[in-house]
Amino acid sequence: MQVSATFLALDTLKTQCLIIPAFSSSSKGDAFKYIDLKSKGALSKAAKKLKNIAELNTCSLLTDINISAQRTLVVGLGKASDLNAKKYAAGIANAIKAAKAAGANEVSIAYGEDVSFIKEAVISASETNYVFDDCKSTKSTAKPLAKLRFVMSERKNVKAATKAADQGLAIANGMTLAKTLGNLPGNICTPTYLADAASDLARGKRKLKTTILNEAQMKKLGMGSLLSVSRGSRQPAKLIVMEYKGGKASQKPIALVGKGLTFDAGGISIKPGAGMDEMKYDMCGAASVFGAMQACVELELPINVVGVIPSSENLPDGDANKPGDIVTSMSGQTIEILNTDAEGRLILCDALTYTERFEPAAVIDIATLTGACIVALGDQASGLMANDDKLADELLEAGQSSGDRAWRLPIWDEYQSQLDSNFADMANIGGPKAGSITAACFLARYTKKFKWAHLDIAGTAWKQGAAKGSTGRPVPLLMEFLMKRARVV
Ligand code: BES
Ligand code: MN
Ligand code: ZN
Repeated sequence: MQVSATFLALDTLKTQCLIIPAFSSSSKGDAFKYIDLKSKGALSKAAKKLKNIAELNTCSLLTDINISAQRTLVVGLGKASDLNAKKYAAGIANAIKAAKAAGANEVSIAYGEDVSFIKEAVISASETNYVFDDCKSTKSTAKPLAKLRFVMSERKNVKAATKAADQGLAIANGMTLAKTLGNLPGNICTPTYLADAASDLARGKRKLKTTILNEAQMKKLGMGSLLSVSRGSRQPAKLIVMEYKGGKASQKPIALVGKGLTFDAGGISIKPGAGMDEMKYDMCGAASVFGAMQACVELELPINVVGVIPSSENLPDGDANKPGDIVTSMSGQTIEILNTDAEGRLILCDALTYTERFEPAAVIDIATLTGACIVALGDQASGLMANDDKLADELLEAGQSSGDRAWRLPIWDEYQSQLDSNFADMANIGGPKAGSITAACFLARYTKKFKWAHLDIAGTAWKQGAAKGSTGRPVPLLMEFLMKRARVV
């Protein structure tokens, strides 16, 4: 999909489909009024017939409007004062679906009102194009939207609109990459597959470098915790490191550490069978790091970012971790594995210790870490836990302004005793209470040397049910955060 912004007269615009917003005020908005005038009242005539033309979630394809556009689509946005980014983006998505159904693959949006939702509109337009049919023998024949153009009502806004559209597109493309990696099944998307995808992403890109560590190299580093998870699998674990250098060499990087469990059966503490297929999504943290790294490259963000992805499978096997096993992490701390299904923290702790070598300005780990987080927050917000209030506030704000929200939970010291072990420095589970918090408390023991935040995306990374699929979250949150750090928003 291509995006652009221009300043042109709406009535003389050559486009396959002109999308005109309508508000439930008497004037229905400037663009509506303008086209109505130019079409000698054709729009108000249509509005008289279609009483709900301006109502939210209404979309009307009009004929006989007699302007240069091949098709005219009025999208109802309801009360102007109630409009927000989510409603606008949903309206645009509906309109684009209707335009595509009518045969258009290029649309122009009259963007004249006091709305600043271009980024969100581009993201939702891109979502209407997303199909995952990589594993189907008959491919989708749906024609994707190829071009999306915002027609500004004032020339002075074109530059800012173009920038927002480009940012939206980079985020949307990052989400598409994250979704596809997430949707791929565990037998295709293995740790080696992810490592190859990371090498592919860096190919030909001057500012991005990928390094892959194999199991022998991880063993030398002392990553006994990470490797203990992988021992139960025939697929070798990989530690994927992506370094994006868009800022000054002296600038400390932001590190993104993504859980890359390409399939989580639970190990010897095996999961129940129902819904176990969804554990192919246990690498969605890693996928969001891929999406963010790609978007940084696409936007040439003036910032340094390191992506670190520990990737493994978690399966039952004669050589797998057993409850009661004790392993030594790269940090030297020992861990009693009381539940082999709490494997995410076991691979993340070594990746976090490894991240120290980049002397990061801040570290954010992203992980489908606990079912308890779905119980607490559902699919609306990602769980956020942090050892630094300013970093936490920045991430909350990035979530709010991107619509990809997070909600903070505490990691008070008082919770730490839930991780006490009789035989090792700590246990890998903290009992039935506050499961998301004790998981984060475990990670907190490996992140004392830097500013750190943890995003538990178990509820937000994919949709369950009939429309099952990866969501591409939290790429929008991460990119909003990185763009703010890079001072481009
Ligand atoms: N990958 C799961 C968490 C998960 C579960 C994400 C369901 C999305 C949906 C993680 O590895 C896990 O199994 N966590 C356990 C931890 C428990 C054993 C302390 C959980 O949440 O049950
Ligand atoms: Mn697990
Ligand atoms: Zn897991």
